[in-house]
Amino acid sequence: MADQYAQTGEDKRPTGIPVIRWEEPPEGPVVVLLDQTRLPSEEVELVCTDASALVEAIRSLAVRGAPVLGIAGAYGVALAAARGFDVDEAAVALSGARPTAVNLSVGVRRAAAAYRSALVKGGDGGAAAAAALDAARTLHREDAEASARMARHGLALLDELLPGGGHRILTHCNTGSLVSGGEGTAFAVALRAHRAGRLRRLWVDETRPLLQGARLTAYEAARSGMAYTLLTDNAAGSLFAAGEVDAVLIGADRIAADGSVANKVGSYPLAVLARYHHVPFIVVAPVTTVDPATPDGAAIEVEQRPGYEVTEVTAPQVPVAGAGGGIPVAPLGTQAYNPAFDVTPPELVTAIVTEEGAVSPVTAEALAELCARSRQV
Ligand code: MRU
Repeated sequence: MADQYAQTGEDKRPTGIPVIRWEEPPEGPVVVLLDQTRLPSEEVELVCTDASALVEAIRSLAVRGAPVLGIAGAYGVALAAARGFDVDEAAVALSGARPTAVNLSVGVRRAAAAYRSALVKGGDGGAAAAAALDAARTLHREDAEASARMARHGLALLDELLPGGGHRILTHCNTGSLVSGGEGTAFAVALRAHRAGRLRRLWVDETRPLLQGARLTAYEAARSGMAYTLLTDNAAGSLFAAGEVDAVLIGADRIAADGSVANKVGSYPLAVLARYHHVPFIVVAPVTTVDPATPDGAAIEVEQRPGYEVTEVTAPQVPVAGAGGGIPVAPLGTQAYNPAFDVTPPELVTAIVTEEGAVSPVTAEALAELCARSRQV
Protein backbone atom coordinates (compact mmCIF):
# COMPACT_ATOMS: atom_id res chain seq x y z
CA MET A 1 0.00 0.00 0.00
CA ALA A 2 2.84 2.40 0.83
CA ASP A 3 3.93 2.76 -2.80
CA GLN A 4 0.52 3.99 -3.78
CA TYR A 5 1.40 7.11 -1.73
CA ALA A 6 4.46 7.82 -3.80
CA GLN A 7 4.83 11.46 -2.87
CA THR A 8 8.41 12.47 -2.24
CA GLY A 9 9.44 15.78 -0.74
CA GLU A 10 10.21 18.30 -3.48
CA ASP A 11 11.75 20.97 -1.29
CA LYS A 12 15.52 20.64 -1.51
CA ARG A 13 16.62 23.40 0.88
CA PRO A 14 19.20 22.40 3.52
CA THR A 15 17.68 20.10 6.15
CA GLY A 16 19.48 21.71 9.09
CA ILE A 17 17.13 24.53 10.08
CA PRO A 18 18.60 27.13 12.46
CA VAL A 19 15.93 27.48 15.14
CA ILE A 20 17.67 29.52 17.79
CA ARG A 21 20.67 31.82 17.94
CA TRP A 22 22.32 34.44 20.11
CA GLU A 23 23.01 37.84 18.59
CA GLU A 24 24.68 40.99 19.88
CA PRO A 25 23.43 44.02 17.91
CA PRO A 26 24.42 47.51 19.19
CA GLU A 27 21.12 47.80 21.15
CA GLY A 28 22.09 44.83 23.30
CA PRO A 29 22.06 41.02 23.18
CA VAL A 30 19.01 39.14 21.91
CA VAL A 31 17.88 35.56 21.37
CA VAL A 32 16.46 35.04 17.89
CA LEU A 33 13.97 32.21 17.32
CA LEU A 34 12.34 30.79 14.22
CA ASP A 35 8.65 31.25 15.14
CA GLN A 36 7.29 27.71 14.84
CA THR A 37 3.68 28.85 15.22
CA ARG A 38 3.97 30.43 11.75
CA LEU A 39 5.31 27.36 9.95
CA PRO A 40 4.93 26.07 7.33
CA SER A 41 3.33 29.07 5.66
CA GLU A 42 5.86 31.67 6.82
CA GLU A 43 9.45 31.54 8.02
CA VAL A 44 9.39 34.42 10.48
CA GLU A 45 11.92 35.18 13.20
CA LEU A 46 11.04 36.28 16.69
CA VAL A 47 13.53 38.50 18.49
CA CYS A 48 13.52 38.14 22.29
CA THR A 49 15.14 41.03 24.12
CA ASP A 50 14.55 39.65 27.60
CA ALA A 51 13.81 36.42 29.43
CA SER A 52 10.11 37.20 29.78
CA ALA A 53 9.76 37.37 25.97
CA LEU A 54 11.42 33.96 25.85
CA VAL A 55 9.02 32.64 28.51
CA GLU A 56 6.11 33.79 26.33
CA ALA A 57 7.69 32.20 23.24
CA ILE A 58 7.98 28.90 25.13
CA ARG A 59 4.37 29.05 26.37
CA SER A 60 3.00 29.89 22.93
CA LEU A 61 5.10 27.11 21.32
CA ALA A 62 7.01 29.53 19.10
CA VAL A 63 9.92 27.45 20.35
CA ARG A 64 9.07 23.89 21.37
CA GLY A 65 10.31 20.31 21.61
CA ALA A 66 12.32 19.01 24.55
CA PRO A 67 16.00 19.45 23.53
CA VAL A 68 15.62 22.96 22.11
CA LEU A 69 13.60 23.99 25.16
CA GLY A 70 16.71 23.21 27.21
CA ILE A 71 18.83 25.34 24.87
CA ALA A 72 16.26 28.17 24.96
CA GLY A 73 16.15 28.03 28.76
CA ALA A 74 19.94 28.31 28.97
CA TYR A 75 20.05 31.24 26.52
CA GLY A 76 17.22 32.85 28.52
CA VAL A 77 19.35 32.81 31.67
CA ALA A 78 22.31 34.19 29.70
CA LEU A 79 20.07 36.96 28.33
CA ALA A 80 18.81 37.95 31.79
CA ALA A 81 22.41 38.03 33.02
CA ALA A 82 23.74 40.01 30.07
CA ARG A 83 20.95 42.58 30.36
CA GLY A 84 21.39 42.96 34.12
CA PHE A 85 18.08 41.40 35.20
CA ASP A 86 17.62 39.24 38.30
CA VAL A 87 18.96 35.88 37.14
CA ASP A 88 17.28 33.81 39.87
CA GLU A 89 13.91 35.30 39.02
CA ALA A 90 14.43 34.69 35.31
CA ALA A 91 15.53 31.11 36.01
CA VAL A 92 12.34 30.39 37.98
CA ALA A 93 10.13 31.92 35.28
CA LEU A 94 11.89 30.06 32.47
CA SER A 95 11.85 26.67 34.25
CA GLY A 96 8.15 27.04 35.01
CA ALA A 97 7.12 28.08 31.49
CA ARG A 98 6.18 24.48 30.60
CA PRO A 99 6.24 21.65 33.13
CA THR A 100 6.69 18.35 31.26
CA ALA A 101 9.91 18.58 29.22
CA VAL A 102 12.64 18.11 31.81
CA ASN A 103 15.26 19.46 29.40
CA LEU A 104 13.94 22.98 30.00
CA SER A 105 14.86 23.01 33.67
CA VAL A 106 18.10 21.12 32.98
CA GLY A 107 19.18 23.87 30.54
CA VAL A 108 18.15 26.66 32.91
CA ARG A 109 19.99 25.02 35.82
CA ARG A 110 23.19 24.57 33.80
CA ALA A 111 23.40 28.22 32.74
CA ALA A 112 22.36 29.51 36.18
CA ALA A 113 24.98 27.28 37.86
CA ALA A 114 27.69 28.61 35.52
CA TYR A 115 26.59 32.18 36.33
CA ARG A 116 26.69 31.60 40.10
CA SER A 117 29.95 29.74 40.01
CA ALA A 118 31.61 32.65 38.14
CA LEU A 119 30.37 35.04 40.84
CA VAL A 120 31.59 32.76 43.63
CA LYS A 121 35.02 32.70 42.00
CA GLY A 122 35.11 36.49 42.28
CA GLY A 123 34.02 37.39 38.75
CA ASP A 124 31.92 40.52 38.19
CA GLY A 125 28.46 40.58 36.57
CA GLY A 126 30.00 40.70 33.08
CA ALA A 127 32.17 37.66 33.70
CA ALA A 128 29.23 35.77 35.21
CA ALA A 129 27.03 36.64 32.22
CA ALA A 130 29.77 35.43 29.89
CA ALA A 131 29.94 32.16 31.84
CA ALA A 132 26.16 31.68 31.48
CA LEU A 133 26.40 32.32 27.74
CA ASP A 134 29.27 29.91 27.44
CA ALA A 135 27.18 27.23 29.21
CA ALA A 136 24.27 27.87 26.81
CA ARG A 137 26.54 27.62 23.77
CA THR A 138 28.09 24.42 25.10
CA LEU A 139 24.65 22.88 25.62
CA HIS A 140 23.67 23.94 22.09
CA ARG A 141 26.79 22.31 20.63
CA GLU A 142 26.45 19.18 22.76
CA ASP A 143 22.86 18.74 21.64
CA ALA A 144 23.93 18.83 17.99
CA GLU A 145 26.58 16.19 18.72
CA ALA A 146 24.11 14.05 20.69
CA SER A 147 21.68 14.26 17.81
CA ALA A 148 24.21 12.83 15.34
CA ARG A 149 25.08 10.00 17.72
CA MET A 150 21.41 9.17 18.38
CA ALA A 151 20.84 8.95 14.63
CA ARG A 152 23.73 6.50 14.30
CA HIS A 153 22.62 4.30 17.19
CA GLY A 154 18.99 4.48 16.11
CA LEU A 155 19.61 3.36 12.55
CA ALA A 156 21.88 0.54 13.75
CA LEU A 157 19.06 -0.66 16.00
CA LEU A 158 16.48 -0.41 13.20
CA ASP A 159 18.72 -2.38 10.86
CA GLU A 160 19.16 -5.03 13.55
CA LEU A 161 15.43 -5.29 14.30
CA LEU A 162 14.37 -5.09 10.63
CA PRO A 163 17.15 -6.75 8.64
CA GLY A 164 15.27 -6.47 5.33
CA GLY A 165 15.84 -2.66 5.08
CA GLY A 166 13.26 -0.51 3.29
CA HIS A 167 11.89 0.74 6.61
CA ARG A 168 8.37 2.13 6.82
CA ILE A 169 8.45 4.29 9.93
CA LEU A 170 5.54 5.93 11.71
CA THR A 171 6.30 9.05 13.75
CA HIS A 172 4.28 11.39 15.94
CA CYS A 173 4.65 15.11 16.71
CA ASN A 174 7.86 16.79 15.56
CA THR A 175 11.36 15.66 16.44
CA GLY A 176 13.68 17.06 13.77
CA SER A 177 15.92 20.12 13.38
CA LEU A 178 13.15 22.29 14.80
CA VAL A 179 13.59 20.73 18.25
CA SER A 180 17.34 20.51 18.34
CA GLY A 181 20.77 22.05 17.95
CA GLY A 182 21.33 19.32 15.34
CA GLU A 183 18.96 17.20 13.24
CA GLY A 184 16.77 16.10 16.13
CA THR A 185 15.95 12.82 17.80
CA ALA A 186 13.51 10.35 16.21
CA PHE A 187 13.40 12.31 12.96
CA ALA A 188 17.21 12.31 12.79
CA VAL A 189 17.10 8.48 12.75
CA ALA A 190 14.58 8.51 9.88
CA LEU A 191 16.72 11.08 8.07
CA ARG A 192 19.81 8.91 8.41
CA ALA A 193 17.83 5.92 7.12
CA HIS A 194 16.69 8.06 4.18
CA ARG A 195 20.24 9.14 3.35
CA ALA A 196 21.39 5.54 3.54
CA GLY A 197 18.65 4.54 1.09
CA ARG A 198 16.91 2.45 3.74
CA LEU A 199 13.77 4.53 4.39
CA ARG A 200 10.85 3.41 2.28
CA ARG A 201 8.37 5.82 3.80
CA LEU A 202 7.87 8.12 6.76
CA TRP A 203 4.28 8.01 7.99
CA VAL A 204 3.60 11.37 9.67
CA ASP A 205 0.82 11.60 12.25
CA GLU A 206 -0.79 15.04 11.93
CA THR A 207 -0.70 15.34 15.77
CA ARG A 208 -3.89 16.97 17.00
CA PRO A 209 -4.67 19.54 18.18
CA LEU A 210 -1.74 21.80 17.23
CA LEU A 211 -0.64 19.84 14.17
CA GLN A 212 3.08 19.60 14.92
CA GLY A 213 3.18 16.61 12.53
CA ALA A 214 1.32 18.25 9.66
CA ARG A 215 2.86 21.70 10.03
CA LEU A 216 6.38 20.86 11.14
CA THR A 217 7.35 17.23 10.47
CA ALA A 218 5.88 17.31 6.97
CA TYR A 219 7.78 20.59 6.42
CA GLU A 220 11.04 18.97 7.51
CA ALA A 221 10.37 15.78 5.54
CA ALA A 222 9.65 17.80 2.40
CA ARG A 223 12.89 19.75 2.84
CA SER A 224 14.85 16.51 3.18
CA GLY A 225 13.44 14.95 0.03
CA MET A 226 12.25 11.83 1.82
CA ALA A 227 9.13 9.87 0.88
CA TYR A 228 6.50 10.82 3.44
CA THR A 229 2.76 10.62 3.85
CA LEU A 230 0.57 12.52 6.28
CA LEU A 231 -2.25 10.80 8.15
CA THR A 232 -4.78 11.81 10.79
CA ASP A 233 -3.81 10.43 14.19
CA ASN A 234 -6.77 8.07 14.23
CA ALA A 235 -5.85 6.57 10.83
CA ALA A 236 -2.81 4.93 12.44
CA GLY A 237 -4.81 1.86 13.56
CA SER A 238 -5.85 0.95 10.05
CA LEU A 239 -2.30 1.46 8.84
CA PHE A 240 -0.99 -1.05 11.40
CA ALA A 241 -3.82 -3.44 10.52
CA ALA A 242 -2.80 -3.26 6.86
CA GLY A 243 0.77 -4.25 7.82
CA GLU A 244 2.18 -0.93 6.60
CA VAL A 245 4.23 0.04 9.67
CA ASP A 246 7.61 -1.58 10.38
CA ALA A 247 8.53 0.55 13.39
CA VAL A 248 7.33 3.51 15.43
CA LEU A 249 9.93 6.18 16.24
CA ILE A 250 9.08 8.98 18.65
CA GLY A 251 10.90 11.45 20.89
CA ALA A 252 10.32 12.11 24.59
CA ASP A 253 9.77 15.06 26.89
CA ARG A 254 10.66 13.25 30.08
CA ILE A 255 11.70 9.69 30.82
CA ALA A 256 11.13 8.67 34.44
CA ALA A 257 13.65 6.55 36.33
CA ASP A 258 11.53 3.43 35.71
CA GLY A 259 11.54 4.06 31.93
CA SER A 260 8.04 5.54 31.62
CA VAL A 261 8.03 7.92 28.66
CA ALA A 262 6.10 11.20 28.52
CA ASN A 263 5.69 12.43 24.96
CA LYS A 264 3.13 14.25 22.82
CA VAL A 265 -0.41 13.07 23.53
CA GLY A 266 -1.21 10.21 21.17
CA SER A 267 2.10 8.43 21.73
CA TYR A 268 0.66 5.94 24.23
CA PRO A 269 -2.10 4.72 21.87
CA LEU A 270 0.61 4.14 19.25
CA ALA A 271 2.57 2.05 21.75
CA VAL A 272 -0.54 -0.07 22.42
CA LEU A 273 -1.13 -0.50 18.68
CA ALA A 274 2.52 -1.37 18.12
CA ARG A 275 2.46 -4.04 20.81
CA TYR A 276 -0.74 -5.59 19.44
CA HIS A 277 0.73 -5.68 15.93
CA HIS A 278 4.22 -6.87 17.04
CA VAL A 279 5.91 -3.72 15.74
CA PRO A 280 8.93 -2.18 17.56
CA PHE A 281 8.12 1.01 19.46
CA ILE A 282 11.33 3.00 19.76
CA VAL A 283 11.92 6.18 21.77
CA VAL A 284 14.84 8.40 20.76
CA ALA A 285 15.98 11.04 23.26
CA PRO A 286 19.18 12.53 24.67
CA VAL A 287 20.30 11.40 28.13
CA THR A 288 19.25 14.84 29.47
CA THR A 289 15.62 13.75 28.93
CA VAL A 290 16.05 10.92 31.45
CA ASP A 291 15.08 12.31 34.85
CA PRO A 292 16.33 10.15 37.73
CA ALA A 293 14.44 12.46 40.14
CA THR A 294 11.07 11.40 38.69
CA PRO A 295 10.54 7.85 39.92
CA ASP A 296 7.76 6.70 37.61
CA GLY A 297 5.11 7.70 35.10
CA ALA A 298 2.60 8.74 37.76
CA ALA A 299 5.08 11.34 39.04
CA ILE A 300 5.39 13.09 35.66
CA GLU A 301 3.50 16.36 35.53
CA VAL A 302 1.50 16.43 32.30
CA GLU A 303 0.86 19.92 30.97
CA GLN A 304 -2.83 20.71 30.45
CA ARG A 305 -3.39 23.15 27.59
CA PRO A 306 -6.37 25.49 27.07
CA GLY A 307 -9.59 23.88 25.84
CA TYR A 308 -9.88 26.28 22.89
CA GLU A 309 -7.01 24.45 21.20
CA VAL A 310 -9.52 21.59 20.79
CA THR A 311 -12.79 23.48 20.42
CA GLU A 312 -11.34 25.79 17.77
CA VAL A 313 -9.09 25.31 14.79
CA THR A 314 -6.16 27.45 15.81
CA ALA A 315 -3.75 26.84 12.96
CA PRO A 316 -2.17 30.27 12.44
CA GLN A 317 -3.08 30.52 8.75
CA VAL A 318 -6.82 30.24 9.56
CA PRO A 319 -8.67 33.58 9.84
CA VAL A 320 -9.39 34.47 13.47
CA ALA A 321 -12.80 34.43 15.14
CA GLY A 322 -13.19 32.40 18.40
CA ALA A 323 -12.08 33.12 21.98
CA GLY A 324 -8.72 31.47 21.37
CA GLY A 325 -8.24 33.27 18.07
CA GLY A 326 -9.44 30.39 15.86
CA ILE A 327 -12.57 29.15 14.13
CA PRO A 328 -14.97 27.36 16.52
CA VAL A 329 -15.58 23.70 15.61
CA ALA A 330 -17.66 22.83 18.71
CA PRO A 331 -20.69 24.49 20.29
CA LEU A 332 -19.83 27.52 22.39
CA GLY A 333 -19.04 26.59 26.00
CA THR A 334 -17.95 23.01 25.19
CA GLN A 335 -15.49 21.70 27.79
CA ALA A 336 -12.37 20.08 26.33
CA TYR A 337 -9.85 17.60 27.77
CA ASN A 338 -6.52 18.77 26.36
CA PRO A 339 -3.42 17.19 27.90
CA ALA A 340 -0.33 18.06 25.88
CA PHE A 341 1.36 14.73 26.64
CA ASP A 342 0.65 11.16 27.67
CA VAL A 343 2.78 8.57 29.42
CA THR A 344 3.78 5.22 27.94
CA PRO A 345 4.79 2.54 30.46
CA PRO A 346 8.23 0.97 29.97
CA GLU A 347 6.84 -2.47 29.18
CA LEU A 348 5.42 -1.09 25.91
CA VAL A 349 8.73 0.49 24.86
CA THR A 350 10.98 -1.78 22.78
CA ALA A 351 14.04 0.42 23.21
CA ILE A 352 15.18 3.85 24.30
CA VAL A 353 17.94 5.16 22.02
CA THR A 354 20.23 7.85 23.41
CA GLU A 355 23.57 9.31 22.33
CA GLU A 356 25.18 6.78 24.69
CA GLY A 357 23.54 3.82 22.97
CA ALA A 358 20.26 1.91 23.19
CA VAL A 359 18.59 0.45 26.27
CA SER A 360 16.51 -2.64 25.57
CA PRO A 361 14.68 -4.01 27.44
CA VAL A 362 13.83 -0.78 29.22
CA THR A 363 14.47 -1.25 32.94
CA ALA A 364 15.25 1.12 35.81
CA GLU A 365 18.64 -0.57 36.26
CA ALA A 366 19.64 -0.22 32.61
CA LEU A 367 18.62 3.46 32.57
CA ALA A 368 20.52 4.19 35.81
CA GLU A 369 23.60 2.54 34.34
CA LEU A 370 23.24 4.63 31.17
CA CYS A 371 22.97 7.89 33.15
CA ALA A 372 26.00 6.95 35.26
CA ARG A 373 28.02 6.20 32.11
CA SER A 374 27.01 9.51 30.55
CA ARG A 375 28.07 11.47 33.64
CA GLN A 376 31.55 9.89 33.43
CA VAL A 377 32.29 11.19 29.91
O1 MRU B 1 4.16 20.38 22.78
P1 MRU B 1 5.43 20.19 22.01
O2 MRU B 1 5.29 20.50 20.56
O3 MRU B 1 6.60 20.90 22.65
O4 MRU B 1 5.72 18.65 22.14
C1 MRU B 1 6.92 18.14 21.63
C2 MRU B 1 6.98 16.66 21.69
O5 MRU B 1 6.14 16.01 22.27
C3 MRU B 1 8.17 16.02 21.09
O6 MRU B 1 7.84 14.75 20.61
C4 MRU B 1 9.21 15.87 22.21
O7 MRU B 1 9.54 17.12 22.76
C5 MRU B 1 10.41 15.21 21.75
S1 MRU B 1 11.33 16.25 20.68
C6 MRU B 1 12.73 15.50 20.54
